[in-house]
Amino acid sequence: MSESPAPASLVQVRGVGHSYASRSGTREVLHDVSFDVAPGEFVCIVGPSGVGKTTILRDIAGLQRVTAGEVRVAGSVLTGPSSDIGLVFQDYSRSLMPWMSVRDNIALPLRGRMPKTDREQRVASAVHEVALDGHEEVRPWQLSGGMQQRVAIARALAFGAPVLLMDEPFASVDAQTRADLEDLALRVRDDTGQAVILITHDIDEAIYLSDRIIVLGGRPASVLEQVEVPFGPVREQLVTKALPEFGRLRTHVHTLIETASRAMTQATPVVDATR
Ligand SMILES: Nc1ncnc2c1ncn2[C@@H]1O[C@H](COP(=O)(O)OP(=O)(O)OP(=O)(O)O)[C@@H](O)[C@H]1O
Ligand SMILES: [Mg+2]
Repeated sequence: MSESPAPASLVQVRGVGHSYASRSGTREVLHDVSFDVAPGEFVCIVGPSGVGKTTILRDIAGLQRVTAGEVRVAGSVLTGPSSDIGLVFQDYSRSLMPWMSVRDNIALPLRGRMPKTDREQRVASAVHEVALDGHEEVRPWQLSGGMQQRVAIARALAFGAPVLLMDEPFASVDAQTRADLEDLALRVRDDTGQAVILITHDIDEAIYLSDRIIVLGGRPASVLEQVEVPFGPVREQLVTKALPEFGRLRTHVHTLIETASRAMTQATPVVDATR
């Protein structure tokens, strides 16, 4: 990553475009996507299926290169995976190593980065944060889905990056576990001051978790609207979701996505066969 002056925001997405090559040419999925995320902010990205949510998250993670614009993290232009970024994906069964204990899975990204005693301390504190004390020696497949996702969250926590990216992290668990994991994500943000960028299909989840919701739409996709969520840092499942403002936001975000989705199904894919 190249050096630059101190950042105004922790994550700066600036005019990002992303095109994928296909047999018939190049297809532009994202066009001129721009937004910022501040330290400690919780931002959810929503939009119709296939709009490009995972694409922008992978761009921010440095897992793939943007084809236009730039992503800056802590002021530096991203050119590949960064130690400033932790990741949690939907499919915990593929992200955890089945032959390793819970403890070793959590410690994995820390190997070679710090002395053993520091590593052990970080792992113990992450295990405690996600309430998995006493499960350190078992293998992930011996745990429930929700517990496995807590192991994945603990691994990202122990890694200690200032930015945490999550792609539909709670989509594969039951409703009660999902609510518990949402509250865990909020607690983690409060305790660590991490900025969280989370993708979800669930509008209620986005409103419940977010300080701000970024709605993607269009083909190619850009930011349709950034919706501020004015509930402050303290959220409570039943209370927050019963607020009249919650209902108003649900209708607003739902309408945005619905309209974007209809427009996408009517539009033909943009293929530039010359590239
Ligand atoms: N590696 C790739 N090569 C070619 N096309 C891709 C690639 N990854 C994604 N796409 C295409 O880019 C578009 C956006 O995909 P992406 O996975 O970012 O959408 P999404 O919003 O995350 O969708 P979902 O809500 O279903 O997870 C889709 O049309 C997809 O087929
Ligand atoms: Mg996706």
